[in-house]
Amino acid sequence: MAISTVGVVGAGQMGAGIAQVAAATGRSVILQDIASEFVERGMATIHGSLEKFVAKGKLPAGEADAIEGRITPSVEQGALAKADIVIEAIIEDQSLKEGLFATLGKLCPPGTILASNTSSISITELGKASGRPTEFIGMHFMNPVPLMELVEVIRGRETSDATCATVMALAREMGKTPVEANDFPGFVANRILLPMLNEACFALMEGVAEAEAIDTVMKLGMNHPMGPLALADYIGLDTCLSIMEVLHSGFDDDKYRPCPLLREKVEAGHLGRKSGRGFYEY
Ligand SMILES: NC(=O)c1ccc[n+]([C@@H]2O[C@H](COP(=O)([O-])OP(=O)(O)OC[C@H]3O[C@@H](n4cnc5c(N)ncnc54)[C@H](O)[C@@H]3O)[C@@H](O)[C@H]2O)c1
Repeated sequence: MAISTVGVVGAGQMGAGIAQVAAATGRSVILQDIASEFVERGMATIHGSLEKFVAKGKLPAGEADAIEGRITPSVEQGALAKADIVIEAIIEDQSLKEGLFATLGKLCPPGTILASNTSSISITELGKASGRPTEFIGMHFMNPVPLMELVEVIRGRETSDATCATVMALAREMGKTPVEANDFPGFVANRILLPMLNEACFALMEGVAEAEAIDTVMKLGMNHPMGPLALADYIGLDTCLSIMEVLHSGFDDDKYRPCPLLREKVEAGHLGRKSGRGFYEY
């Protein structure tokens, strides 16, 4: 199906990036969040990101303005009814996402594709909540969206071939390389990444080494561009904890037990970069 308007729900780190790369394809974008301060923060993130591309000579200034001009910020859910695809990027909470998709399933005309940027939650279950499981799919972007090339595309049990083909083509037009994965907790990316980040939290909690030392070992020893604790701060510790909880309950295996230190940080409101403090201070 032809996609001319893209709706994005949630204007946080991921939603803002998704709106930016969608607008860069020439399409109109509606970026929706629950309060104007969040939508404004999302638009400011997009502006800052585009400015960096212009400063590096990777994007003409006029094109950056045009991309921004194609994004309409909104606090009204009703605005999403105009979209041909709605990509959800709200917080990693299954019941919140299910409630949102039940509403979108009623609000959006038949044929509109609904996609979730969830890091770990079952696409089949979210698709069921939407009431349109054949037009439902996982579209898992990586952070920061404008720079990272991968999109994990996750088919639910009932996702149609047509929905999958449309989303794979859209991801390519966004300049990404889509890779198909099946619907298991954490899919591929976070099933492998998050247990490593969680293990780094255990190493810190048990006093194996200080945070900087753990990150340095993984950067210099394993050639990772970022240490695991800095990366967890970048992702958001609340998101990391939610993903570990989905892996733990989804596989019913204690090897995915969230580290108590991770839980403690989230309970204290130390969510990483986005709150100014996590394993490090920002
Ligand atoms: N952070 C990452 O590195 C990363 C990577 C890939 C996928 N994800 C996934 O993307 C999603 C968003 O993560 P994030 O890091 O952008 O979170 P975030 O906390 O930065 O942003 C979430 C946004 O959703 C908004 N929101 C909450 N409920 C809403 C609702 N009902 N309607 C509209 N907006 C609502 C919040 O106000 C907030 O602005 C999560 O599912 C997460 O697992 C995150």
